[in-house]
Amino acid sequence: MKVLIVGGGGREHAIAMSVKKSPKVEKLYCAPGNAGIAKIAECVPIKVDEFEKMAAFAKDNAIDLTIIGPDDPLAAGIVDVFERENLRVFGPRKNAAILEGSKAFSKDLMKKYGIPTAAYENFDDPAAALAYLETASYPIVLKADGLALGKGVLICQNKEEAQEGVKSIMEDKKFGSAGNRMVIEEFMTGREVSVLSFVDGKTIKIMSSAQDHKRAGDGDTGLNTGGMGTFSPSPFYTPEVDAFCQEQIFQKTVDAMREEGREFKGIIFFGLMLTEKGPKVLEYNARFGDPEAQVVLPRLKNDLIDIVEACIDGTLDQCEVSFEDNAAVCVVLASDGYPVSYEKGFEIKGLENFDGKEDYFCFHAGSAEKDGKIVTNGGRVLGITATGDDLKQAREKAYKATEWVQFDNKYMRHDIGKAIDEA
Ligand code: AMP
Ligand code: GLY
Repeated sequence: MKVLIVGGGGREHAIAMSVKKSPKVEKLYCAPGNAGIAKIAECVPIKVDEFEKMAAFAKDNAIDLTIIGPDDPLAAGIVDVFERENLRVFGPRKNAAILEGSKAFSKDLMKKYGIPTAAYENFDDPAAALAYLETASYPIVLKADGLALGKGVLICQNKEEAQEGVKSIMEDKKFGSAGNRMVIEEFMTGREVSVLSFVDGKTIKIMSSAQDHKRAGDGDTGLNTGGMGTFSPSPFYTPEVDAFCQEQIFQKTVDAMREEGREFKGIIFFGLMLTEKGPKVLEYNARFGDPEAQVVLPRLKNDLIDIVEACIDGTLDQCEVSFEDNAAVCVVLASDGYPVSYEKGFEIKGLENFDGKEDYFCFHAGSAEKDGKIVTNGGRVLGITATGDDLKQAREKAYKATEWVQFDNKYMRHDIGKAIDEA
């Protein structure tokens, strides 16, 4: 079959790597892709927000299956456009992608269906939000309602900071129209775990757990980023935690969406906080996490195409989703200055060191080809993943492999997976 992947980051490279292994796939396209993906797929210069063009390409090239990677096109309804054209596509429709696209929606859903999450209030008027801050307790968390590249969350230590935050989100529109509404919620403490899952509208099968490192600097300092590194599985996602989540969170979410007339087919990514009072949902995403996908997919035993097709056909209950009994660590190599401002266009050297190595992966997040050379083309440039027998071995291997590639202004965190030592 012919498969098209929409997107062009590390997540899409990891999906492409996984899809490429399927004996069912004879031709793989990626739009727009990047210089790393171009080694295993034919990249097509169509942007992720050009839905009609994308669907026309799928039609003209007799694509059998399209897999949507990023959140923005899902939230804006790319799946609906494909379905209108009778094209087979994997991902939630617009009315279900709202699970990630609106934090106010997801908070109301959790409240209505008794899914554990932080206490909150929604606001569409800055004056009401400011009034609420007068009697709130601190620290407190402010969230722009809409998609904001993973950056629309402010943790405020006191009333003054929170007042500034409300103004910047709702009045100055720091995150654009994402800030037309906002959620103000209780600050929680605990370990964070990412659990990704396949969903066919009624059945949910979870993937092996992972943990991200969102802050830019060592020791969880600096600004929030898209994610600076991941490991999988999380040793903190114990069988007890899993049992709780299966009963109180996962199936309840899928059932709630169906109940609301918003049947969800695709990936639900549960951002969980393991609090003293038990696991609670921090956020939902309607897609694979990035860089979570870069540690989870290399460990997947199944043919990804089989699971994706089962999700579309509503037969996921007949699939057993299983993972290798190993571990993976991903260290992101970024451009110095990310997530604020950084230079691009530096040659990346040493990529050939990954050739032919089964337990090392160099996923491209922001790269491009220029004059026959591969150059940096984004804030996050590469995701260096290694698998190992256990987390410590995987971490050692991943850090060793970060030395195999060089480019100017290369920046990384040195403490990805430090939590492993505390497990
Ligand atoms: P989100 O985009 O909702 O995942 O938020 C980004 C990050 O902000 C999360 O990964 C947490 O580290 C932090 N965060 C979000 N909500 C809360 C909360 N209620 N309490 C504490 N930290 C939070
Ligand atoms: N790594 C977090 C995300 O994909 O949203």
